Amino acid sequence: MRGVKLLAACLYLAAAATVVVHAEDPYFHHVWNVTYGTASPLGVPQQVILINGQFPGPNINSTSNNNVIINVFNNLDEPFLLTWNGIQHRKNCWQDGTPGTMCPIMPGTNYTYHFQPKDQIGSYFYYPTTGMHRAAGGYGGLRVNSRLLIPVPYADPEDDYTVLIGDWYTKSHTQLKKFLDGGRTIGRPDGIVINGKSGKGDGSDAPLFTLKPERLTGLGSVTWVSDIYHFRIQNHKMKLVEWKDRTFFKRLRLSRRSRWPVLWHIVTANQEPKDYYMVASSRFLKTVITTTGLLRYEGGKGPASSQLPAGPVGWAWSLNQFRSFRWNLTASAARPNPQGSYHYGKINITRTIKLVNTQGKVDGKLRFALNGVSHTEPETPLKLAEYFGISDKVFKYDTITDDPTPEQIKNIKIEPNVLNITHRTFVEVVFENHEKSVQSWHLDGYSFFSVAVEPGTWTPEKRKNYNLLDAVSRHTVQVYPKCWAAILLTFDNCGMWNVRSENTERRYLGQQLYASVLSPEKSLRDEYNMPETSLQCGLVKNTPKPVNPYAGA
Ligand SMILES: *[C@@H]1O[C@H](CO)[C@@H](O)[C@H](O)[C@H]1NC(C)=O
Ligand SMILES: *[C@@H]1O[C@H](CO)[C@@H](O)[C@H](O)[C@H]1NC(C)=O
Ligand SMILES: *[C@@H]1O[C@H](CO)[C@@H](O)[C@H](O)[C@H]1NC(C)=O
Ligand SMILES: *[C@@H]1O[C@H](CO)[C@@H](O)[C@H](O)[C@H]1NC(C)=O
Ligand SMILES: *[C@@H]1O[C@H](CO)[C@@H](O)[C@H](O)[C@H]1NC(C)=O
Ligand SMILES: *[C@@H]1O[C@H](CO)[C@@H](O)[C@H](O)[C@H]1NC(C)=O
Repeated sequence: MRGVKLLAACLYLAAAATVVVHAEDPYFHHVWNVTYGTASPLGVPQQVILINGQFPGPNINSTSNNNVIINVFNNLDEPFLLTWNGIQHRKNCWQDGTPGTMCPIMPGTNYTYHFQPKDQIGSYFYYPTTGMHRAAGGYGGLRVNSRLLIPVPYADPEDDYTVLIGDWYTKSHTQLKKFLDGGRTIGRPDGIVINGKSGKGDGSDAPLFTLKPERLTGLGSVTWVSDIYHFRIQNHKMKLVEWKDRTFFKRLRLSRRSRWPVLWHIVTANQEPKDYYMVASSRFLKTVITTTGLLRYEGGKGPASSQLPAGPVGWAWSLNQFRSFRWNLTASAARPNPQGSYHYGKINITRTIKLVNTQGKVDGKLRFALNGVSHTEPETPLKLAEYFGISDKVFKYDTITDDPTPEQIKNIKIEPNVLNITHRTFVEVVFENHEKSVQSWHLDGYSFFSVAVEPGTWTPEKRKNYNLLDAVSRHTVQVYPKCWAAILLTFDNCGMWNVRSENTERRYLGQQLYASVLSPEKSLRDEYNMPETSLQCGLVKNTPKPVNPYAGA
């Protein structure tokens, strides 16, 4: 596996539920200045992307239903966009920040994002979707707290920390881009960083976090669930906690049908007061890359032991781990209910889309593809082309087939990859990975049930092995080497939604697509009109915005 680019997978699960909407949801304004700066993530000074002078960027701390307003000033020398990984943007792909939904913020200009995280309590992260910017930073944590204090069957954590784990290259994003544009791979990362730093591990590191002894601490956005990195802390157990009692949901005022558990990783600071190492290491790489971060006890004495806890070996471990992620059905009678699918295992599948990842050469240059199509971004964002009624001038729908032949998979074509998905259909997506590296797939706008990951190739008979009862719902799924993964979801959130490899190299070289879900009645009930403030570019640069194409109640 090379060039794994996963920043963080969120352990906290998104809720998509009907809530009592308050008339005045509070507004929180942020002004962000995006600039270049210098930092030494792997010990050597290099150019990074800063937000308000920080790398990683500021954590956004929000509460469900808040209006989050972020005025982003692009002071880089290249167009820039940020996406909010895991935020569902119900009816509102206009703020999703992918090049298929928005025009980029040009250098020297600004754009104001405005979104409302709904009942997606949890910890997410944002990152740049333009060029190879993500490899240079520009990312940070995004937390959505619940509106009311939640009584939980465990003591409430007294401190919350966001842990962002990502791999890192010492080359600048422009150098990396030049490699890729020239048809070459950027190879394996030079290291791993935890919150933008890589510990020397010789006792000289400053602590990343200082814990108060005898306290419960919640860790957000830790990646070990991602299976791309493994994360552990010396002498400390991390406990995966599921909050799902009835009072919790009553307090949240979620509708009766929509009860969502929240997952949280809890660490208790109950060890001898001194320093401890947090360790992150790669999985599935022949040569394991490891990094450390220091955890200090307030008032503690003594350095961390140089003995680092070992990580798990082999992908069988990961498969078992995947299978162990389940809801505890006895803890509560209710089932999670994303988008109306109460018993997701009982809904008839209306469409099966098999997506096979490959790599190959086109005109002598390295490309990555799904079902033989390597996505390219047209100058006019796909969503704008659709909205202004000129999609036929910009892209074709469904250029890949749902069940591709080996021939189709092998002959890589470069073109926009857009699926036409019928609103409210219940779809099975099978990711089939014939490659030797692990894949990580993210879907914007939704959370889905991840019902199986197994070795080999998928056939319809494999459905009998699906977990149709207590699968967890998530927005990212890992597909281990030579394995397949199946997810189930109802496409009920209208918009143009990106399905992407979380590996920056693969995504940059075309391993992504868009799912277009249109409102059949063009109803405002299903999707918002394009905001007045949205930027326009490409073929629609100077075109007046359509007057309320989405109408009705
Ligand atoms: C952003 O940062 C740049 C470089 O430090 C500075 O010149 C500029 O004034 C800042 N802009 C804002 C809006 O703070
Ligand atoms: C920010 O986080 C703290 C707890 O960490 C919480 O008490 C506070 O209400 C949060 N602010 C918002 C706007 O959610
Ligand atoms: C740019 O920032 C100014 C405030 O400095 C704001 O008034 C304006 O609305 C912003 N423009 C966009 C497109 O967000
Ligand atoms: C599931 O929840 C029940 C009730 O809260 C508890 O007794 C049981 O130990 C839990 N099972 C697991 C596997 O955590
Ligand atoms: C699902 O499919 C089965 C078998 O084809 C059929 O009997 C059943 O009525 C369908 N259920 C729904 C809700 O459409
Ligand atoms: C998308 O699919 C729907 C329903 O299957 C169909 O009616 C529509 O014509 C398709 N749109 C395009 C552009 O292919």
